[in-house]
Amino acid sequence: MHYIDPSTGATYPLEAARWRADSGHYLNLGAAPGLKHADIDHSCYSVWRYHKALLIPRANAVTLGEGWTPLIDGVWDRTPVKFKLEFMMPTGSFKDRGMTVMVSYLKHRGVDHVLEDSSGNAGASLSAYAAAAGMRCRILVPETASYPKIAQIAACGADVVTIRGSRQDVADAAMEMSREIFYASHNWQPFFVEGTKTLAYELWEQLGFREPDNVVVPLGYGSNVLGCERGFAELLRNGEIARMPRIFGVQAANCAPYYAAHQSGGEALVPTTIAPTIAEGIASSQPTRVAEVLRAVRSSGGGIVAVSEEEIVTALGVLARMGLYVEPTSAAAAAGLSLLTKKGAINQAETTVLVLTGTGLKTSERIGQLLNLGARHG
Ligand SMILES: Cc1ncc(COP(=O)(O)O)c(C=O)c1O
Repeated sequence: MHYIDPSTGATYPLEAARWRADSGHYLNLGAAPGLKHADIDHSCYSVWRYHKALLIPRANAVTLGEGWTPLIDGVWDRTPVKFKLEFMMPTGSFKDRGMTVMVSYLKHRGVDHVLEDSSGNAGASLSAYAAAAGMRCRILVPETASYPKIAQIAACGADVVTIRGSRQDVADAAMEMSREIFYASHNWQPFFVEGTKTLAYELWEQLGFREPDNVVVPLGYGSNVLGCERGFAELLRNGEIARMPRIFGVQAANCAPYYAAHQSGGEALVPTTIAPTIAEGIASSQPTRVAEVLRAVRSSGGGIVAVSEEEIVTALGVLARMGLYVEPTSAAAAAGLSLLTKKGAINQAETTVLVLTGTGLKTSERIGQLLNLGARHG
């Protein structure tokens, strides 16, 4: 197994940690053997249950007990749905699924100081796993990031730096600093997706070793899309499932570069207007693995939709009144599912998984404003 630069075919050994190729392109990992039913480690209820498929020995795991999140039955817009509660992770978001694997790899390869840019959740996750691994950590976030995410990062001992401007300005600032500190960007380092692929394994196992028909995820850079594709493709190659599920990515219409690219029919980003969105986790205007994410959703038979700010707020309120208190970014996926059922792209007879990626607890202040909430004086 080695790193591969998909633009040139150049390969690099995994022994030396890196985040990009000499050409400047992002790197991927080659095809992995993947998982078979008999490989599951039933003694372990975390991502490491699937350690045989993770390219990293379990003995090297930096773990906080992430993964094995609940999959619960519900109904959304009269359509039966399985809600995957990815917000029930050690740091409150799905990012822990990728971070445990990425940090385990980096630690084992001798990296002791990491740098990352983030809308907040990935930074919170990396700071927690860096703390667990005894690594130093610097996290760059937008000035507008939800304060509880900033506090969470700082509490874990990381050096947090706020950057004025857009999510892309934060990424650019991190790129500058990558000359001094190892850039452990989850959007570049492919071991992150090696971790997010366990979402596919878990869904398969929790559904009784069957694939769902549809998986609906919020789409920013695309780690859930790519994780689902990699994990389900491995299961397919190993004869554990009959076909790939359809993967649907949901973007906020205010910041929807993938949606625009998908509509154009091409494989690259097209010019599109970017505006602020309450879905801060998917406010990504220049994602990294563009062609790959587009190919993943298209080849699965899925698609990409975009939802308005109003639709996100409505979905947020409905989810909360079902007891599912998630952040606006996650509610965007639910709003996208509404659109998909309305269009007839997803129907009631299918098994549909809606991935709820982040807890509402870190964005309570914003949720209170959006839903106009308050207590009654007694
Ligand atoms: C809660 C939440 N959901 C979804 C996403 C989007 O993930 P990705 O950028 O990998 O598509 C993020 C990213 O920060 C997030 O914080």
